[in-house]
Amino acid sequence: MKKILTIFTILLLVSCKQEKKSDYTPVRGLITDKAMVVSARQEASKIGNDILKKGGNAFDAMAATELALAVSYPYAGNLGGGGFMVYRKNNGDIGAVDYREKAPLAATKDMYLDEEGNVIPGKSTLGAMAVGVPGTVAGVFAVHEKFGTLPIQEILTPVIELAKKGVFVTEKQEKRIAAKQEDFSKANKDSIIFMKAWKQGDTIRYPALAKTLERILENGRDEFYKGETAKTLAKFIQDNGGIVTEEDLAKYQVRWRDPVTFTYDDLRIISMSPPSSGGICLAQILKMIEPYDLDKFGHNTTKTIQVITEAERRAYADRSFYLGDPDFVDIPNKELISDDYLKNRMSSFTFDKATLSSDVSYGNVQVVESNETTHYSIVDQFGNAISTTTTINGAFGSKLYCSELGFFLNNEMDDFSSKPGVPNMFGLIGAEANSIAPEKRMLSSMTPTIVEKDGKLLMSVGTPGGSTIITSVLQTILNVHEFGMTMQDAVNAPRFHHQWLPDVVMMEPNSFPEELIKELTTKGYTINQENSPVIGKVDGILVLDDGKLEGGADRRGDDTAVGF
Ligand code: GLY
Repeated sequence: MKKILTIFTILLLVSCKQEKKSDYTPVRGLITDKAMVVSARQEASKIGNDILKKGGNAFDAMAATELALAVSYPYAGNLGGGGFMVYRKNNGDIGAVDYREKAPLAATKDMYLDEEGNVIPGKSTLGAMAVGVPGTVAGVFAVHEKFGTLPIQEILTPVIELAKKGVFVTEKQEKRIAAKQEDFSKANKDSIIFMKAWKQGDTIRYPALAKTLERILENGRDEFYKGETAKTLAKFIQDNGGIVTEEDLAKYQVRWRDPVTFTYDDLRIISMSPPSSGGICLAQILKMIEPYDLDKFGHNTTKTIQVITEAERRAYADRSFYLGDPDFVDIPNKELISDDYLKNRMSSFTFDKATLSSDVSYGNVQVVESNETTHYSIVDQFGNAISTTTTINGAFGSKLYCSELGFFLNNEMDDFSSKPGVPNMFGLIGAEANSIAPEKRMLSSMTPTIVEKDGKLLMSVGTPGGSTIITSVLQTILNVHEFGMTMQDAVNAPRFHHQWLPDVVMMEPNSFPEELIKELTTKGYTINQENSPVIGKVDGILVLDDGKLEGGADRRGDDTAVGF
């Protein structure tokens, strides 16, 4: 009922073309006094929250939630993938950890091309050749070792119990599993647990994953990278035609990074730095938008959509050209987000008509990525906050499932540009900066973000959604800051997306009034409401004026906020 009311409120809000905050009837998400976890599955949020209740901090809860998602949300939660976490401690210290996958040592620039130099369809997306060296277990242990307070046993035990007990299938999960049956058969030599018509309400148990986690509990991080698990994993990938070796696993290390920070009005925004494009792209868009009075234009009005679209167009043009793994390429971070540069970028914008993407440099590169990632936000009772986005790239990653170890392997290699100028399966046309090299990390759009106001924590937010991640995080922040929405409404509000190329404004279907679409079309915007069933699936936590927390768990998924 709450969901129905929320959607009703949002649609009402849109159809009224809300100009004044007073027209708006807010719907709040879960409110708690002290602490909260918001993630894609209730089971994972609960396990993370239980860790907080036991006296653990946000970093302990990060480890628990990440691993619980690997059990309860195999669609994107993972041991076989990677991610990024941005944090803000209660003393104001900030930082980020990069546990992104890496290209194996045997990777080559042309590994996905045939003899004629053409991209081989499916090679970077389906099966063992698509797999990058996973970083998740290293990420979890690095975070726990640096900032955790509870013994790892207390964190892993409930996750192992969940894997043994099993997880019930939701309506959405039933559909996701059914949709991928053909790919599961193509990617796997033998039958896997997901090759079955699982129905809503069924329980899937994961005994092999429980055993893998038990070994990790006993032997620590190195079990995954140097132990029996590493040996089994490398052999499994190679037996299936892949190139990840034991040496690749043994060499894997996380990177602690300085996040991207910038101001927008009276907010300070802290987001992920390269090899994610998220923070820089978000900074570029917000800085280009800042001079415009969006709150006066109103939420999702023609003018607001124009300003945001034009800023997105310009930022995404830069994104493809300049960004890649900072350990391999020089990125002009400061220049890309400098006021002068961004003012100049927007100088060609007018409200009269759309700018053409073909008139915006850098041309000839395009960004679209897989949508199947997952995000969680945590604020603890001590005031620490984390924002983490984790992925195996595609839905169920490469679809290659190691039954002996109990998890899917990523297809993150597809986030590289297989051939500069040629689109990957998701339409990505990358540049040289993101070409394949041994041990390089592939460019990401993941945008785990923390927002401060007046030097205090205001929000932790993020989302899956490939290239739409950045614009979904952007609109959620604007919905709260410019349009006075609650966290829940900000997350639920209809979203749109432009990424330079293709020169199209993607809009969530049945969410925007016809009159608005007509106005935008008249001004020269091409609107696509068909190919964008979901733009992001945002989870966030907002600190309210009285210090309480409000969770925003996206109506588009099974996402749930749990707290106390
Ligand atoms: N694989 C999605 C991303 O990293 O952005």
